[in-house]
Amino acid sequence: MASSTDGRDTWQPELYSKHAHFVPALTQSVQGLLKPYLSPKTELLDLGCGDGVLTAELQPQCARVVGIDQSASMVEMAKTSGCQDVRVGDGADLEAAGIPANGFDVVFSNAALHWMKRDPAAVVRQIYRCLKPGGVLVAELGGHLNVAGVHMALRTVVEAHGQSGDQLSPWFFPSTLDYQQLLEHAGFVVKHVEWEPRPTTLPTDLRGWLDTFATPFLKPFSDPDERHRILDEVTAMMKPVACDSQGKWTIMYCRLRVVAEKPH
Ligand SMILES: C[S@@+](CC[C@H](N)C(=O)[O-])C[C@H]1O[C@@H](n2cnc3c(N)ncnc32)[C@H](O)[C@@H]1O
Repeated sequence: MASSTDGRDTWQPELYSKHAHFVPALTQSVQGLLKPYLSPKTELLDLGCGDGVLTAELQPQCARVVGIDQSASMVEMAKTSGCQDVRVGDGADLEAAGIPANGFDVVFSNAALHWMKRDPAAVVRQIYRCLKPGGVLVAELGGHLNVAGVHMALRTVVEAHGQSGDQLSPWFFPSTLDYQQLLEHAGFVVKHVEWEPRPTTLPTDLRGWLDTFATPFLKPFSDPDERHRILDEVTAMMKPVACDSQGKWTIMYCRLRVVAEKPH
């Protein structure tokens, strides 16, 4: 399950590792962008570190790795993954989580920035603030059209149940141009930006994916039967387009990758 835009912790790390272990696994491209910035002297902040699978992998390659995540349950799981310094904090207010200004060579973020929908500009400003001059942001996030089919189905079904899909969606999926402008507005020099569609076959099924990521859409619905009906309706809507004859579900992820430098 996943955080709603009001910051309530609805993530369930055990669902994440069962239905979404591809998220930290499919990271060769962003790790390729990150590699030139890693050294035994690197101080790295992993923003939206989740269950810490990736964060723990980065530790031996750096002098110091700090993980930050808004979800207390994910932070607890990150500790059990072996993360040495992992804290609960909101990307839009890293100061409150004790993250100093000019403290890091690299801010890394995988599959997390598009969840920070409430104020993406504040998040980018906070990242800029905590980087040393010459430091870099290396990130992958959901970009324009990410999971568009299931996103549209969720919005359509909650609208049919009398709620605003726009308000309930926890995600913003910027275009390359929009995100580049956001970064430049905060003072970054954008070194690299790319957008890549990536069809992703789900390790379990769409219902598992919805249970893991789509619970923010269910927030106003207190009746468990209605919650189930909503997820059944989304699944039925998606089945003809996203489930093959073998029962394998594939949804179209679209990834946005950036490298942006804080000038000296
Ligand atoms: C899909 S998970 C990605 C986790 C991890 N980076 C990975 O690659 O597996 C997204 C994470 O972003 C975190 N998150 C969402 N909004 C956040 C915010 N405002 N500040 C910090 N973390 C946030 C969630 O709690 C969640 O753990």
